[in-house]
Amino acid sequence: MQRTLILLKPDCVQRHLIGALIQRFEQKGLRLVALKFTQANRDLAKKHYAVHKKKPFYESLLSFLTSGPTVAIVWEGREAVAVVREMIGKTDGAKSPPGTIRGDYGISVQNNLIHGSDSAENAAAEIALWFQPSDLVSWQPADMDWIG
Ligand code: RTP
Ligand code: MG
Repeated sequence: MQRTLILLKPDCVQRHLIGALIQRFEQKGLRLVALKFTQANRDLAKKHYAVHKKKPFYESLLSFLTSGPTVAIVWEGREAVAVVREMIGKTDGAKSPPGTIRGDYGISVQNNLIHGSDSAENAAAEIALWFQPSDLVSWQPADMDWIG
């Protein structure tokens, strides 16, 4: 079993797509481990996207992520990191195929609705940025044996 972090970014919240996106992950069979509605400050945004520090879009990305509320969620499941990245699609909504989240709901590169951790190592680091260990709930859904 693996855990991964997603962020429903400020554009997702402003566009009232929180429920639609959460539903996709629930229906896929991922287990909810933690969920938080919060507005990232600049310090958190900088830490979260530190890997992009030298990119030309970095300042704009920080402004975007801190511009309004975000929903941070930890999902758990078999190969959760890769499964979630596949569901999200490509970075650019215009190039992301239909059936993916960014392909179905967006057309922008920056305002692409959602973040997903890109490796198990980064997932662990990102989860620690957005949540306290005591926020993470381990539980057994009743249908777990059927989902696998
Ligand atoms: P994420 O980290 O948010 O899951 O997205 P990603 O892996 O698909 O893309 P990444 O290269 O890590 O970029 C992080 C976020 O920065 C914004 N971005 N803007 N203007 C641009 O050229 C540009 N490129 C990336 C997007 O919000 C992207 O998700
Ligand atoms: Mg990324």
